[in-house]
Amino acid sequence: TDLSRIRNFSIIAHIDHGKSTLADRLIQRTGGLTDREMSAQVLDNMDIEKERGITIKAQTVRLDYTARDGQVYELNLMDTPGHVDFAYEVSRSLAACEGALLVVDAAQGVEAQTLANVYQSIEHDHEIVPVLNKIDLPAAEPEKVRAEIEEVIGLDASEAVLASAKSGIGIDDILEAIVAKIPPPKGDRDAPLEAMLVDSWYDPYLGVVILVRVVNGVIKKGQNIKFMIGGTEHLIDRVGCMRPKIEQLPELGPGEIGFITAQIKDISQTRVGDTITTVKNPAAKPLPGFKEVQPVVFCGLFPVDANDFEKLRDSISKLRLNDASFSFEMETSAALGFGFRCGFLGLLHLEIIQERLTREYDLDLITTAPSVVYDMHMKDGTVRHLHNPADMPDPNHIEMIEEPWIEAIIYCPDEYLGSILKLCQDRRGIQKNLTYVGGRAQVTYELPLNEVVFDFYDRLKSISRGYASFDYHQIGTREGDLVKMSILVNNEPVDALSMIVHRSAAEARGRHMCERLKDLIPRHLFKIPIQAAIGGKVIARETIAAMRKDVTAKCYGGDISRKKKLLDKQKEGKKRMREYGSVQIPQEAFIAALRMG
Ligand code: GTP
Repeated sequence: TDLSRIRNFSIIAHIDHGKSTLADRLIQRTGGLTDREMSAQVLDNMDIEKERGITIKAQTVRLDYTARDGQVYELNLMDTPGHVDFAYEVSRSLAACEGALLVVDAAQGVEAQTLANVYQSIEHDHEIVPVLNKIDLPAAEPEKVRAEIEEVIGLDASEAVLASAKSGIGIDDILEAIVAKIPPPKGDRDAPLEAMLVDSWYDPYLGVVILVRVVNGVIKKGQNIKFMIGGTEHLIDRVGCMRPKIEQLPELGPGEIGFITAQIKDISQTRVGDTITTVKNPAAKPLPGFKEVQPVVFCGLFPVDANDFEKLRDSISKLRLNDASFSFEMETSAALGFGFRCGFLGLLHLEIIQERLTREYDLDLITTAPSVVYDMHMKDGTVRHLHNPADMPDPNHIEMIEEPWIEAIIYCPDEYLGSILKLCQDRRGIQKNLTYVGGRAQVTYELPLNEVVFDFYDRLKSISRGYASFDYHQIGTREGDLVKMSILVNNEPVDALSMIVHRSAAEARGRHMCERLKDLIPRHLFKIPIQAAIGGKVIARETIAAMRKDVTAKCYGGDISRKKKLLDKQKEGKKRMREYGSVQIPQEAFIAALRMG
């Protein structure tokens, strides 16, 4: 295709502002799908995505659009993941485009993710086309939001398109604006092949499918290609694009976006951001911007029923086929038996995997407290990366501990600001900035990631009745006064409940955990002390009183069937309990105890 007829763009938006709906409309308008096929949202193709309304994997569609100038344009629409945990994938998708549609809900206005995404888009030198969506809503205030975009983002919004993705208003204007405003790609057909690996996923029929953006040269079937960073070589067996149905093509030239397959079985060979070149005539060096994604949040996953361990192993391996960004290795816990220590890109990523295991693979799981990665600087000069509080070395051998920090942007209506500042302050936050935009506050905080992984989102949402929006990125590690807090039930430490906390927060958290556990662990025939301790020092303590009578005692000699029912009930309860020493801890206790109130 003639380069001047190609437009590559992505849609950036805050969650729920209508990105997927608009994408579907554009596909429908350019004839990619029939009305019947339109009935289901197309770009979000996993069930969980649909239910959560979050786009997890970047996908792309090619649209042929006959513009008002009579020419046919090849529009490549790149769908990007909508959540911060997938920031690197978003950045690669953006790098594959020359422009972006900035979709802002005309009733909601600019939100934290709008801002974070638009800054990224600007960093990639994108031409940005603002779209004010949902103008069909009575609450829409397009003029106010237009001013907000200019004021907050500093973008000229005078020509912003007014649209309703739902009712189909403004769709043609958006397509015309794409053609007129977004620049065509540049590239040299005769240069050695340089194609960026934008994304990849496992397909049971095709093997690993790789989404590429060709920068220079041509990619075609039968070529021997090489991943410049991954180092492996492969023979291309298919080249094509998605409309959104798969269509095979003879080749992809410079500036084009499409997919290739090369009989690859393992997704870990296809690293997002890698450069694909030919074996015969390779490019001199990889394209800029490659980054290794590293899991930042870790937790243990254990089957409630120990017999499910193999099933859990199988299920995790299957999920991993399609998601190279999470890691897992076997772990044993005295309290929970055999399970896996898993690493995730962030909390939402953790939740998605956990939910898929529960729902799609029908597993009952116990999740231990999420933990970040701590750098332990040892007195012997070595540095250890700690993923699991249970592996904390003897504090006497530690020189100092560093923990990851983030910078968070929070957007909220003024009336919730006070409580939100308090929340950030309680979580050791350092306020960097506070400004107002049209009755709403934008506040920037630096926070230790460790304070965010527990329940920061939940708290923020409940404090602000769902009105606050939040976005963050990592800003490196800092020294912290961190200690390992152990929880002892009946004088035995429960490894699954131990956590790394800041010394200043240890006592409060310890007390809270003990109180929770006291309510969550049922009475036994004996008294059970529950303690929180740092090293040998107990910092909080509760006691569960002994049960007065056997549950079945009152049935002795009486109604047998009632007794049996009670015992059955107990047995059922047992299934969801973990025997710990002589104490039984219900599954809920592990989860609930880790939530802070
Ligand atoms: P994520 O995939 O979670 O990032 O969300 P999204 O930005 O793709 O939003 P989506 O398209 O799923 O739309 C969110 C909700 O807004 C859905 O319930 C849509 O039906 C609704 N919606 C989208 N566009 C419009 C519009 O123009 N008008 C109205 N009234 N509702 C809309």
